[in-house]
Amino acid sequence: MTASTVPALRPLTLGQHQVWPPVVLAPMAGITNIGFRRLCREQGGGIYVCEMITTRALVERNPKTLRMIAFGDDENPRSLQLYGTDPEITAAAVRIVVERNLADHIDLNFGCPVPKVTRRGGGAALPWRRRLFGRLVRAAVAAAAPSGVPVTVKMRKGIDDDHLTYVEAGLAAQEAGVAAVALHGRTAAQRYSGTADWDAIATLKQALDVPVLGNGDIWEADDALRMVAHTGVDGVVIGRGCLGRPWLFADLEAAFNGRPERRLPTLGEVAVTMRRHAELLVDQFQAGARNPARGERDGCTDFRKHVAWYLKGFPVGGELRRSLAMIESLAQLDDLLGKLDPAEPFPVTALGQPRGRTNSPGKVFLPEGWLASRDDDTVPEGAEMDDSGG
Ligand SMILES: Cc1cc2nc3c(=O)[nH]c(=O)nc-3n(C[C@H](O)[C@H](O)[C@H](O)COP(=O)(O)O)c2cc1C
Repeated sequence: MTASTVPALRPLTLGQHQVWPPVVLAPMAGITNIGFRRLCREQGGGIYVCEMITTRALVERNPKTLRMIAFGDDENPRSLQLYGTDPEITAAAVRIVVERNLADHIDLNFGCPVPKVTRRGGGAALPWRRRLFGRLVRAAVAAAAPSGVPVTVKMRKGIDDDHLTYVEAGLAAQEAGVAAVALHGRTAAQRYSGTADWDAIATLKQALDVPVLGNGDIWEADDALRMVAHTGVDGVVIGRGCLGRPWLFADLEAAFNGRPERRLPTLGEVAVTMRRHAELLVDQFQAGARNPARGERDGCTDFRKHVAWYLKGFPVGGELRRSLAMIESLAQLDDLLGKLDPAEPFPVTALGQPRGRTNSPGKVFLPEGWLASRDDDTVPEGAEMDDSGG
């Protein structure tokens, strides 16, 4: 897409916040912690959502959960995702967030396809129970209202192709007073397989008056512009595309400002980004640790999962890759990064390619009788996980 075909866009309005470019870092459990968000924020503007927080764990003041709610001093707006299935517990969690001024934006997760969640009626299974869904969103919006903190929902198309919920759920969320609705253009049954259905995102955009955010398969900045042109969405949500490529946010900022430049970092430049990422994770883990050496080790351990994403497509030997994925200290990381050829050009064959999860479709496990009773609004039992980040 050339600069002249860039769709006309406005900043994304979320309550009193204006976000430019209209780009959202998708919440990703185990990834979008304070360190990763800072790394991405250093690249470009947008809104960067933290890892998912379970409402029950927050209400029960689970120490791990409370530690996960950490934002940089310069993070604005501070964006938090909550997962809940019980309207009362969700409202209580939202009250804690607003009364303790923990965040400036709350997103509700209705997209999780993981069997342990849907089997209990949570995540992507929940919108099917339309009365419960409506109650839950209304409860969250009402609890946030006195503070002016905007609430948004993030969902999938539905359970499977025969049980689509997104238009009805989007309208219900709008009526409940949400500030925006994000749609990942896949069903729960698809998990992360196939391609995201951007036509469904366009349909939702047509149906709603509140801003709609499109999510699914944005691998490059130009994919974001294509999604906006195709669907008319008010903003884009970026998940797997930024794994091992935080500079995607610089490209997105350039793209939304009509500028043509895109980053193609050499391996040396990638190594600098890897070092910065690891250092931010070490800072994060040291902030919560009594023992700095332990914090460094935990930060390095957390970094390991990112190594393969950073090196995707680069000609780096298996042994070096394996050693990098086993680091325990920054000194070890520096030593190994020093063995990379800094002049190696970016592998353009990796551009536009899926990264991160791409698993196959699968059966959606649901509580017994779930599909037969859409209007039952009983809170599903045991669906409120008691720890966060799943
Ligand atoms: C590792 C990983 C963790 C995720 N965790 C969450 C989560 O906690 N909450 C959520 O709403 N979505 C979660 N997602 C889904 C993403 O937010 C996003 O909707 C999905 O990856 C599709 O966007 P993409 O094609 O840009 O990756 C996760 C995805 C991945 C790959």
